[in-house]
Amino acid sequence: MDLELNGKLALITGASKGIGSAIATHLAREGCGLILVARNADTLGEAAEQIRRDHQVPVQVLAADLSRQEEVERVAEDVNALDILINNAGAIPPGALLDVDNARWRAAWDLKVFGFISLTRALYRKLQPHRGVIVNIIGTAGERFDPNYIAGSAGNAALMAFTRALGHAAPKDGMRVVGINPGLVSTDRMETMLRGRAEKDHGDASRWQGYLEKLPFSRAAKPEEIADAAAFLASPRSGYTTGTIVTIDGAAR
Ligand SMILES: NC(=O)c1ccc[n+]([C@@H]2O[C@H](COP(=O)([O-])OP(=O)(O)OC[C@H]3O[C@@H](n4cnc5c(N)ncnc54)[C@H](OP(=O)(O)O)[C@@H]3O)[C@@H](O)[C@H]2O)c1
Repeated sequence: MDLELNGKLALITGASKGIGSAIATHLAREGCGLILVARNADTLGEAAEQIRRDHQVPVQVLAADLSRQEEVERVAEDVNALDILINNAGAIPPGALLDVDNARWRAAWDLKVFGFISLTRALYRKLQPHRGVIVNIIGTAGERFDPNYIAGSAGNAALMAFTRALGHAAPKDGMRVVGINPGLVSTDRMETMLRGRAEKDHGDASRWQGYLEKLPFSRAAKPEEIADAAAFLASPRSGYTTGTIVTIDGAAR
């Protein structure tokens, strides 16, 4: 299927690895120019170089900490026109109510909750003339609440509401806003989280892969399985989809 993305420009946050990197690669394969954002300029530069070499599309990198409002504004100032915004960078810590102190909880939401909202607000008027699309990578904890990932459950639920509300309003501006709720996806972040859980449950972090065996298909999702959906949702082929959040979790319980 031709996704009709050739020549469009997409900004992807958290694009240096994991899900964001897979989305960047897929959009480049479809002919999109890219703006990649993450904190570490070196890993970002390496990701950009690989994509330029493999797909011959223009790739700009912007090293920024998106948990900081002034850096969100700096990123937005560097963007002139934009067709697609992928809000993806996030790292909310696991833990129950008393495990995550106020400072860590706020810092995590500064990136995953306010970072998504702030960058959307900063870029909305630049997306509008292009009938732009916003794709929020959220997470199933926002719909299947986990008391042992309480900051993530509450933060993701907020972003689901944000996505649905804005997705409802966007068509009057010619725009669309959609979300994806991944379950476990095979990335560095997933391994770190499962190692922590194995340490807590068994006193042995190396047993983390045991959790994967209990998942549907006996594995986590591949980042590419999230990226394929993101590319389709961002594309004109999905032109009547807005305010929708697609769950990709193998129907895990
Ligand atoms: N993996 C899963 O199982 C899973 C499941 C559901 C939802 N999700 C969500 O999917 C998103 C991506 O997760 P992932 O597993 O792909 O993560 P990951 O492999 O840890 O990658 C995170 C990316 O975000 C960047 N980043 C982190 N903090 C940042 C900051 N303050 N400002 C700008 N960029 C920042 C990282 O680069 P730098 O470190 O260089 O900044 C990196 O490029 C997250 O929002 C996560 O909550 C993941």
